Amino acid sequence: MSKYHTPVMLQQCINFIAPKPGGIYVDATIGGGGHSLGLLQSCPDIHLIGFDQDAEALQEAQQTLFPYQDRVELIQANFSRLRTELAFRQIKTINGILFDLGVSSHQLETTERGFSFELDAPLDMRMDQDSELTAETVLNELSQRELTKIFRDYGEELNASRIATKIVRVREKHPLKTTGDLVKVIESVAGKGTKASLKTKVRIFQALRIYINNELEILEQALKDAINILQPGGRIVVLSYHSLEDRIVKNVFRTAAEGEKMPSELSYLGNNNKGKLQLLTRKPLLAEAEEIKNNPHSRSAKLRAAEKI
Ligand SMILES: C[S@@+](CC[C@H](N)C(=O)[O-])C[C@H]1O[C@@H](n2cnc3c(N)ncnc32)[C@H](O)[C@@H]1O
Repeated sequence: MSKYHTPVMLQQCINFIAPKPGGIYVDATIGGGGHSLGLLQSCPDIHLIGFDQDAEALQEAQQTLFPYQDRVELIQANFSRLRTELAFRQIKTINGILFDLGVSSHQLETTERGFSFELDAPLDMRMDQDSELTAETVLNELSQRELTKIFRDYGEELNASRIATKIVRVREKHPLKTTGDLVKVIESVAGKGTKASLKTKVRIFQALRIYINNELEILEQALKDAINILQPGGRIVVLSYHSLEDRIVKNVFRTAAEGEKMPSELSYLGNNNKGKLQLLTRKPLLAEAEEIKNNPHSRSAKLRAAEKI
């Protein structure tokens, strides 16, 4: 397997998607192409469309999937453009779709991308390097209140307000430039070398990444779009890596399975549609201990799958 990124819960994803010859499948977050390669190897006679907003990821996926290049189309776009990009290609329905959310190991380990608090690098954190908003802008230009809200809403961080206050105080003297500058601020509030301070760093970095890449706002609509374009019998599989993402996946799946509620004055009619999805996982599946040992990135993964009715 390539060093770029080891696909998480690969066999489970393939089993749930269960690709069929002739079908059209979408990998909404193709990354290094590991999951897509697995899908193509399990059923070579499919057409696979891969999205990623990161140009570097698509280059890697292109190499990984080279033996199947006739059956693969790669699109550099945010998956929020799923419907538009497929419509543009005259594709009205698909047979399966996979979302493997978040960042790849390669993105995390590439120092200059600024995703990791363990590597000192410019404050960037953009998945799409053509987009404008960087972590440096956010940390130096947003108000204390705005920063607090980001750290609370997207990091569920209890020290949100204190860390935001400290950032504002520090940047009055000199702007924050590197991830190391941010780590110093976090450690000055949350302490150094303890489990708690490590968790705070994880949460603050996660919060900034989610905000900069608009990850949660995009996700809900993209999942709804994906469910709408699935053919009956088609499958959707989502791997998420933190509770905020998983909550969105759970709620979108549940609403699609139960049907939208009628307005209260018409509630005696029950739900206004019968539901479009059958859940294949009541509770999310987690990676096995063996996989977590070999690939620590899989520790926080939660897999949810469903089938279009
Ligand atoms: C966890 S990695 C996927 C790894 C992939 N499954 C593999 O086997 O190599 C997530 C990828 O999704 C991309 N990504 C995250 N959010 C995205 C979005 N909203 N639109 C498009 N790509 C996105 C990231 O750039 C990253 O390359």
